[in-house]
Amino acid sequence: MTQSYEEMDAVAMLKADHRKVEEIFASFEKARGKDRKKALAEQACLELKVHTIIEEEVFYPACRGQIEDDMLNEAYVEHDAAKVLINDIEAGGPDEAFYEAKVKVLSEMIEHHVKEEEMRSEGMFSQARAAGLDMDALADRMRARKKSAMAQLKGHPEILAETHTFHGDDNAFAMADEPMAGDGDEPAAASKMEMREAR
Ligand SMILES: [Fe+2]
Ligand SMILES: [Fe+2]
Repeated sequence: MTQSYEEMDAVAMLKADHRKVEEIFASFEKARGKDRKKALAEQACLELKVHTIIEEEVFYPACRGQIEDDMLNEAYVEHDAAKVLINDIEAGGPDEAFYEAKVKVLSEMIEHHVKEEEMRSEGMFSQARAAGLDMDALADRMRARKKSAMAQLKGHPEILAETHTFHGDDNAFAMADEPMAGDGDEPAAASKMEMREAR
């Protein structure tokens, strides 16, 4: 029997998100027509923005100190590298010369990143499970945060994905060595999100 998203534990939920984004990228590759391409690219970007928020605000902080630091640090930087492309893709459209190339490169970056998270035994999720994290509690917090992030970001591609590891960023956010405080008062990357300047 298939488990519903509401019943999944943290790892199952994040993996389900990964599969969903992979499907959107596959549809983008097959899609014909600029409107369809743009809609799919924006759907992938939205899903990825929300996914990175729930990982960075809930799952990754819970992993800090419990799994290899290098792996976690690289994951934050990989997210940030993807966000540069996400923000750029959302600012543009299929008429641009490099639009399809950017979506393809984004999908390849995500494929690599997902492998690092899902890899058997040495992957992030396996390490987190081995460390005994409470995957049900984390799932509940991520589901709640996903709802609020979706509500805020859906239909608003102008809200930029915020990076945390680049020069001038709030590195402390990504270094957090304690799980963030309880529900409802997440640091909310979204609350300090910048809007892209109108063009
Ligand atoms: Fe992920
Ligand atoms: Fe990730």
